[in-house]
Order: sequence, then C-alpha cells, then structure tokens
Amino acid sequence: MNTIKQQLLSDLSVAKTAEQIEQVRIKYLGRKGIVTNLAKETDFSKFTSEEKKNFGQQLNDLKDFTTSQITLVAEQVKSSETDSAAILRLIDPSVPGSSGSLGSLHPITMVQLELEQIFEGMGFSVLDSPEVETEFNNFEAINIPKDHPARDMQDTFWLKNDLVLRTHTSANQVRTLRRFGVPVKAIFPGRCFRYESIDPSHENTFYQCEGLMVDEGVSVANLIGVMKTLLSEVFRRDVKVRLRPGFFPFVEPGFELDLNCMFCGGVGCPTCGDGWIELIPCGLVHPKVLEFGGVDPAKYSGFAFGLGLTRLAMMRFGIRDIRHFNAGDVRFYEQFAPVL
Ligand code: DAH
Repeated sequence: MNTIKQQLLSDLSVAKTAEQIEQVRIKYLGRKGIVTNLAKETDFSKFTSEEKKNFGQQLNDLKDFTTSQITLVAEQVKSSETDSAAILRLIDPSVPGSSGSLGSLHPITMVQLELEQIFEGMGFSVLDSPEVETEFNNFEAINIPKDHPARDMQDTFWLKNDLVLRTHTSANQVRTLRRFGVPVKAIFPGRCFRYESIDPSHENTFYQCEGLMVDEGVSVANLIGVMKTLLSEVFRRDVKVRLRPGFFPFVEPGFELDLNCMFCGGVGCPTCGDGWIELIPCGLVHPKVLEFGGVDPAKYSGFAFGLGLTRLAMMRFGIRDIRHFNAGDVRFYEQFAPVL
C-alpha cells in the first residue's frame, strides 16, 4: 500500500490542471481504479478475522489518504488558476503605455565632464576643491594683498573668521602647489560666488574651471597649445578666438582669450555685446604665487587659466540667459535628457 501512496503522490506532483487531477482520481478511485480494485480483488475468505480487520483498516486509510491528497492538490490548482485569472482581468492591454521620464545631467555638469575628459587626455589631474576658502588662499596667496585694488573687482561674500565663499577657482592654486609640489598639471572645476546683481549674463553663483601647469620651461607656447586643443575639442570645429592683454595680479603676462560669439557670428547681440565672449582669462603664473606655493620661480614656470564653465555651457548649448542654470525649472533641464 505504501507503493500505491508513493505512486499517487508522484502522479499528483505532475498534475497541473483540474482535468489532469480528475484523471488521477479515476486512476485510483474510479470504478476500476487501483484502490477500488484492491478491495475488490482481495480474497477475504482466506483471512482470519483478525487479518480481515487489519486489512480493512489499512484499506480505509489508503482511501482516506488518496481522497484527501487529491482534494488538496485540486484546491491548490483551483486557487492558482483564479489568481492568474484575476491578474489578467486587471491588465487592460488596450491602455496606452506610460513611459517614465528619464532625468538628465545638468548642462554644466555635462560640459564639466567633457572638459575633464579632454584634460585627462592631455595628462592633467582633476582636483576637487573647497567652496568655502580662507582669505589667504582666495586673495593673498595669489598676489592680491589686503589693500590691493584688484579686490574691488570681486564683490565677495564674506563669512566669519576670515573665510569667504570663493570668488574664483584660482583660490585653489597655492593649495595645489603646496600639496602636490612640481611638476604639476591639474584642473579644478567648481562653483564660485560673487555678490553681483543678476542679469542675462551675470549670476551670483557660477562655475569656473581653473587650470594650472607648472614645470621647468613652461611658456606661453604651452598655454596657447593647450587652449587650442581644448576649444577645438569642445566645439568640434575651428573656432575663432582672439588673445588680448589682460591684467590679473596672479599672472604675468596676463591675457584674455575671447571666443567669437556663436549666436550672432560676431556682429554683436544681447548675449555677447560686441561680438566676442570673454571666455578664458589666462597667463603665466606670477613668481610670487609660485613662491607662496613653495616653488622656486628661478627654476620653474607655469601657466594658469580660469575658464568660465557656465559661459562655455551657454555657448555649447546655445543658452542665452545665464539665469536658467540655477532657476530650477524642470522644463529647462528636461531638454538635456537623453532621447530614448
Ligand atoms: N580668477 C580669475 C577670475 O575669476 C580668472 C583668471 C584669470 C584665472 C587669469 C586664471 C588666470 O588662472 O590666469 O576673474
């Protein structure tokens, strides 16, 4: 009888539908079923009354076992069938699908990542740097002493304890020299702050990307070479630039590298004014800055630049108003999301 039980369980384990279970029931409990036959075909006349009693008992157990196992499996199959039927009723395949909206990187982040890649290709390291700076790093260490008129050029958010919200990424120059020594080739992109009134081309919060290269024999030729590589990679075509002398206390000589305005082609428009966009102020690192960084200016020289990352993003994507970047209007950012 145990063999029959095992056989039954294995038959039930493969029965997946009500119909298959009914077949199992017939196989065991039907008119000619295995269990039914067992009772019919046994010759009770040869049994003692004790044996009859035992056998009858076992036979009843087998019948009960068979019936209960079949009922159990039948119920399981029934409920799983109704579950999937219920789920199917909930799905309406005629309803149009809804696609989730994909977020996007901020356009400035996109340009920043692109710049990082270009500079890394030229062997520069990419450094992180603090937005809250010491007055020393932001001004004094880069040759802007307390009474220097250049401090007027930068309306500064002053904090307590001689700390400032950095007004430019140049604040990280001397830290970098002190920390890494020379030779060094690094860029440090990041957010800067100035207490300015806001208009289509001025913001109180904007991004720059500072670059610094110091080694033996670095000259203006290296500076121009790096700037040219950079701009042709960013704009993927020849761009018109002009180099003008510029004054910054931390470089000597200093230059202004301007980019021909891409909106108006150089004739003048509200974004650029006179047809040129001031993009990359740069120059050779002032000997005093090298000294503050612990570098011997008799042996080493270098160049630095402070690229307007926000401005570059405006040029790159044709954004005419700087205020969009920080306004937090999702419709603006969505335009930069990848197309699915
Ligand atoms: N720090 C300057 C500013 O924000 C920009 C600048 C000018 C950076 C010349 C430089 C440089 O590295 O060489 O106005």
